[in-house]
Amino acid sequence: MNPDIPLQLLGGITAREFLRDYWQKKPLLIRQAIPDFESPIDADELAGLALEEEVESRLVIEHGERPWELRRGPFAEDEFSKLPEREWTLLVQAVDQFVPEVSELLEHFRFLPSWRVDDVMISFAAPGGSVGPHFDNYDVFLLQGHGKRNWKIGQMCNSESPLLPHADLRILTDFDATDEWVLEPGDMLYLPPRLAHCGVAVDDCMTYSVGFRAPSAAEVLTHFTDFLAQFLTDEERYTDADALPAVDPHQIQHDALDRLKGLLAEHMSDERLLLTWFGQFMTEPRYPELVVGPEEIEEDDLLASLEEGAVLIRNPSARLAWSEVDDDLLLFASGQSRYLPGKLRELLKMICAADALHVDNLGEWLSDEDGRGLLCELIKQGSLGFADE
Ligand code: SIN
Ligand code: CO
Repeated sequence: MNPDIPLQLLGGITAREFLRDYWQKKPLLIRQAIPDFESPIDADELAGLALEEEVESRLVIEHGERPWELRRGPFAEDEFSKLPEREWTLLVQAVDQFVPEVSELLEHFRFLPSWRVDDVMISFAAPGGSVGPHFDNYDVFLLQGHGKRNWKIGQMCNSESPLLPHADLRILTDFDATDEWVLEPGDMLYLPPRLAHCGVAVDDCMTYSVGFRAPSAAEVLTHFTDFLAQFLTDEERYTDADALPAVDPHQIQHDALDRLKGLLAEHMSDERLLLTWFGQFMTEPRYPELVVGPEEIEEDDLLASLEEGAVLIRNPSARLAWSEVDDDLLLFASGQSRYLPGKLRELLKMICAADALHVDNLGEWLSDEDGRGLLCELIKQGSLGFADE
């Protein structure tokens, strides 16, 4: 994708300009980001998804059994018919994993790394419905899918910002609105992390939230050090050969701290391990139970099926990314990683990007033993599977 072409999605600015001026910095309202956008799913279909066991959904009812009642799905069908006329919201997470047309929307966001994208959440709100003024710790593009929503944005928040006493919802006590717009289908609002916002449905309305993944510093440190520790032996310890005699035996002197920093730096600066961990972490599926493959697949069977016209597609719940280090390639697939020879570079890129893999685009790769082996591994792992028809 050429980063210097003005994009309708970004209101006529280029991806480079958007990243420079807005991304992670300030909000941007884009009228008709996707002109004449028609939601690929309707409210009934969204409610249908919320009945499913494997789908994560919530209902927020402003005046329910208590103020801002939160109910978690899966829901029973009759629950929806008992809802009030106004002021409730149904939110369904990761709809992109269940509805291919919703996943296709993500193609518009390819100027950002795919491993930064988390999911597309879709909400349906009855008139007056809202989840209250709040902030999120991640960037979000709010695309209006159906009906109208009034969006207000406010102050920048942080973990000290006062919240209403509520066990599960993080609703701000204070909301200082600075701007306000009514969004119609196809309009989109980009919000950087921690900006207070509140969207209230004007009429029956659906909003698509394209959310991003950004691990917290605490997650990075705890997960990376756990990962690292698997490769360390018990013999690798704090050492103080050549230490000078203790002046006061009860004092921890700064030379001890320097030795400790040295120990940390030595392990933290291992780029291969850091990259391996990061790729695995960022491609961890949101719902690992949805990424399962067959126990075995023989290369001959794979070839025969493809030659008969079978098509391989990515499991919609799988996450793929690749990287390179020295002359090796690294493929990250749903939380796992593997080193691959440099010659597979174009195949790797195709596996990550193509909607479908078949004899026509795989071509010569099917004659390559490593290429075939890689496809079989990804099928066994559940990241690739045969399309149904
Ligand atoms: C919503 O769609 O109702 C809420 C989205 C958000 O504010 O993050
Ligand atoms: Co939000």
